[in-house]
Amino acid sequence: MKNIAVIGSGTMGNGIAHTFAQHGYTVTLIDIAEEALKKAINTIDKNLTRQVEKGTITEAIKKQTLENIATSSDLKSGVSNVDLVVEAATENIDLKLKIFQDLDAATLPDTILATNTSSISITEIASVTKRADKVIGMHFMNPVPVMKLVEVIRGYNTSNEVTSTIMELSRSLEKIPVEVNDYPGFIANRILMPMINEAIYSLYEGVAGVEEIDSVMKLGMAHPMGPLQLADFIGLDVCLSILNVLHDGFGNPKYAPCPLLVNMVQAGHKGIKSGNGFYAYT
Ligand code: CAA
Repeated sequence: MKNIAVIGSGTMGNGIAHTFAQHGYTVTLIDIAEEALKKAINTIDKNLTRQVEKGTITEAIKKQTLENIATSSDLKSGVSNVDLVVEAATENIDLKLKIFQDLDAATLPDTILATNTSSISITEIASVTKRADKVIGMHFMNPVPVMKLVEVIRGYNTSNEVTSTIMELSRSLEKIPVEVNDYPGFIANRILMPMINEAIYSLYEGVAGVEEIDSVMKLGMAHPMGPLQLADFIGLDVCLSILNVLHDGFGNPKYAPCPLLVNMVQAGHKGIKSGNGFYAYT
């Protein structure tokens, strides 16, 4: 494993590209929008500068990391010669299925196709390719350069060999991989999202205010962020879409998204990215 392509240059995509490049991999960061690619490189530069200022990396590593990243707005040529693709496009099933069909046609037969999806079925994504044994979930956490976990999700047909390659690769990024099977929400979001939803229900039912709910979980459970602040950080639209996947996938009313969350997303209050959520951001 040496050459990696990352599809999508948003928050997760640029963090994944940053992490691979910092650990010596050659990365092609691919996005249809040139503007988004420029923004992603600026973000990576800023985050590397922060690491240099904190003394966790040297200026030379920062320079090498940036040199290890090329950008491309053409998916076909960007993935034609890579060992691994990590897809981190928008969380939309139709889009992901289309991307995986294209990747199957444009990559070498042995290329492993990974997705950073937070809740879409790996088995369903794999089903549109002719290499279901080489399709796997590689779910990084935000902020990617900081968080230690990679949730490695085996689709129904993912091979043992591909799973061990991705576990080993994750360790080479100084991450700790955890292997899980492909069921709705996997483990991370199956447990995280009901907690966030319950925090939103507590607010909706008037049990306590935003800051009070977050303080209880930060001070009482040593969470670095309270659940409402974390929901804003993840994106309220993303939280809603994951809850819908859990609700549809298990058919259990305990996963039904709180009406307040539905209303906020419909009103355009999506958390940090829209400037307003449970908190206001300027
Ligand atoms: N790139 C590189 N370094 C970064 C960074 C980035 N994007 N963001 C923060 N950092 C570094 C800082 O430089 C700092 O480094 P040192 O420890 O070496 O000093 C460290 O991270 C802590 O940052 P700050 O001091 O600025 O801020 P903080 O102490 O408040 O921590 C946080 C910020 C790491 C985000 C912390 O609040 C946290 O852990 N929050 C919870 C994050 C979380 O739960 N993420 C998972 C979300 S769920 C998900 O991603 C998956 C999904 O499917 C929804």
